[in-house]
Amino acid sequence: MAAASGHDFEPRVPSVFCEQRAIRDQLDTETRRLQDETVLSCLPYLRGTDKTVRDCLNAHGVAWLQRDHHIEYLYDSLEDYPGSFVSFDSSRPWLSYWGLAGLALLGEDVTKYRHRVIANFTPMQNSGGGFGGGHGQMSHLACSFAAVLSIALVGGADAYELVDRRAMWSWLGELKQPDGGFQMVVGGEEDVRGAYCAMVIISLLDLPLDLPPESNARQSGLRTFLDGLPEYLARCQSYEGGISGQPGGEAHGAYAFCALACLCIIGKPNEIIPRYMDVPLLLSWLSARQYAPEGGFSGRTNKLVDACYSHWVGDCWPLVQSALYYTAENESVPALENDLFSREGLARYILNCCQNKTGGLRDKPGKRPDSYHTCYALAGLSMLQHHHYRVEASSPVKGVFASAFSWTSAPFRSDANVFDEEDRLVPLHPLYTIPHQKAVDIRRWCEEHPI
Ligand code: FPP
Ligand code: ZN
Repeated sequence: MAAASGHDFEPRVPSVFCEQRAIRDQLDTETRRLQDETVLSCLPYLRGTDKTVRDCLNAHGVAWLQRDHHIEYLYDSLEDYPGSFVSFDSSRPWLSYWGLAGLALLGEDVTKYRHRVIANFTPMQNSGGGFGGGHGQMSHLACSFAAVLSIALVGGADAYELVDRRAMWSWLGELKQPDGGFQMVVGGEEDVRGAYCAMVIISLLDLPLDLPPESNARQSGLRTFLDGLPEYLARCQSYEGGISGQPGGEAHGAYAFCALACLCIIGKPNEIIPRYMDVPLLLSWLSARQYAPEGGFSGRTNKLVDACYSHWVGDCWPLVQSALYYTAENESVPALENDLFSREGLARYILNCCQNKTGGLRDKPGKRPDSYHTCYALAGLSMLQHHHYRVEASSPVKGVFASAFSWTSAPFRSDANVFDEEDRLVPLHPLYTIPHQKAVDIRRWCEEHPI
């Protein structure tokens, strides 16, 4: 199919990315109808005929990144919100993280937000440890995760010092459960988000691995934050091969990322993933998340593509590929033919279907942009633009978290790239979703300032 363009020639889009799929579910169901509608809404963007993309296509029929518009959109997302956004008052650490991470991906220097981050997060921290979603709110692991990542993004001793790490350690001890997992909030739900958020915080802040003496989990025989953790994550793999929030639940891409990244924080992917996951089953489920012609990922079986899964599902791939292709002799870049997902398809979905003309990225055509989808669509775009691999000898950290800090990246260069070089984003650490050096800097400072 020839894409519309202002070029002298018509870029050709492979039919797999611009024609309705040949084999379709014939059942008359709500999910089939929504799926058909989604494909129909994506096709004009993928073909380059929609008026919002037709004048912005490169030689591959792929829309250019609207970098300046997205930068402006994200700066604006860090400013005031109207009263109708009151329900976001419990998500302020997230708004901060999505804005800062998105800007960092686009190459902006976010250290200028250091003093605002300190001023905003100081009242959100509770004396018993951890951060709430806003002033006076109880501590929550997701908010604490977003707060620590925001602090790491702006960097600097003044920001690192803000975290009461001893209180954080003590609070995390309250969240650790006898089955190895973590609650999100004291007395609240336990799921794999908790496991991932806790291990991100512990490893970045260099908190002791021993459970605090008052931790209830000690009464069940647990001694460290790691006890029972990988076994708990293994129990979350579902019959489909994906990973669910809790044992026995439905597999979902966001939980899959949390579980795989958590495993890769505490071990080497090539050892820990095959040890605790059924890899062939995982590959089968993960591969089924990418759809054609849309090119994007869905979060779960029978659901629709959505740009945020460019990160949640997309960033499972560097971890799984690292588990499969790692050899001690050849730590470096895997070959294109080893890729188990289509970088091209994902690039076409993000750039053609999900960019809002005036800035920001969206779930899918017809949806409005928001900073969550902007951040995670850009994170997915950055992922597909880079190789992520580990060089063990290069890890600046010793001990349990040596592997977590051994990740590095290189630009993915190939004739098969469909994005323009000037549209390349900054790489993120595949476990911490902040630039690599930001993760190393906060960890180093914490090592130099033991609690
Ligand atoms: C379903 O949404 C979404 C979930 C079941 C999981 C959401 C979890 C996250 C986004 C991960 C959070 C991670 C951390 C680190 C705290 P839906 O039914 O609206 O979407 P769907 O139709 O695409 O499944
Ligand atoms: Zn989404």
